Amino acid sequence: MAGESDAVLEIRGATVRFGDRLALDGLDLTLRAGEVFALLGPNGAGKTTTVNLILGFLRADAGRVLVCGRDAGTEPVAARAETATIPEQVALYPNLTGLENLRYLATLAGLSLSRDAARRHLDEAGLAAEAQGRAAATYSKGMRQKVGVAVALARRARLLLLDEPTSGLDPAASAEFSGIVRAAARRGTAVLMATHDLYRVREMADRVGVLRAGRLVEEIDPGRLDHVALERLYLDTLADGGAA
Ligand SMILES: Nc1ncnc2c1ncn2[C@@H]1O[C@H](COP(=O)(O)OP(=O)(O)OP(=O)(O)O)[C@@H](O)[C@H]1O
Ligand SMILES: [Mg+2]
Repeated sequence: MAGESDAVLEIRGATVRFGDRLALDGLDLTLRAGEVFALLGPNGAGKTTTVNLILGFLRADAGRVLVCGRDAGTEPVAARAETATIPEQVALYPNLTGLENLRYLATLAGLSLSRDAARRHLDEAGLAAEAQGRAAATYSKGMRQKVGVAVALARRARLLLLDEPTSGLDPAASAEFSGIVRAAARRGTAVLMATHDLYRVREMADRVGVLRAGRLVEEIDPGRLDHVALERLYLDTLADGGAA
């Protein structure tokens, strides 16, 4: 295998076309265990396309994607086995409790979780004990996400994909979510997060990349910038030549 051996995610020259529209234009990105990478970029820059490509829901027209050395294009099931994703709206069975949802979703992933193990993962994901036994129909967006995080923990995913995870969360829930993502990274999970939330990027991400028209045009160290400077950089990058 030609990939870098310690890379959890390796994207090389990935190009995706939709008809005559170039959604990804030779994207390169490498992520190692424990790194949190924030993908910033305007609407239509290719963030969701990147996530769908890694999940093997789309095939690259050129280039390739490796997850723990598994080719997401030719071995999507093996690549997906290493990957967990939390979509913007985590789909749960409304009549089942959070605990029952987690155990059922784990079954679908081929795992059998005891009640105790399921509770432990939900605790770790920050879902209050009281909520764990309540029907998911009553859950807020933040609570649904916590069940999504618990599924990722149960599956011991080495790569976590987040598409705008904090949109629609209140500041307290979004701060809590940052902490949960940081904790997952400390345990060695690599995290790729598409986001517009410049405020959270600094505390959540180790690396920040600006995607424009399907290319990473800039990578920055978020520790060196506050969110005002990040916003300026983001807007400057957009102004420089325009988006797709
Ligand atoms: N299924 C599709 N069919 C045709 N074009 C598509 C499809 N999915 C995405 N595109 C196009 O590919 C480009 C990248 O879209 P993508 O959804 O990846 O952007 P994004 O960065 O996630 O944007 P947003 O911030 O709005 O979520 C856009 O020009 C979009 O119109
Ligand atoms: Mg998107």
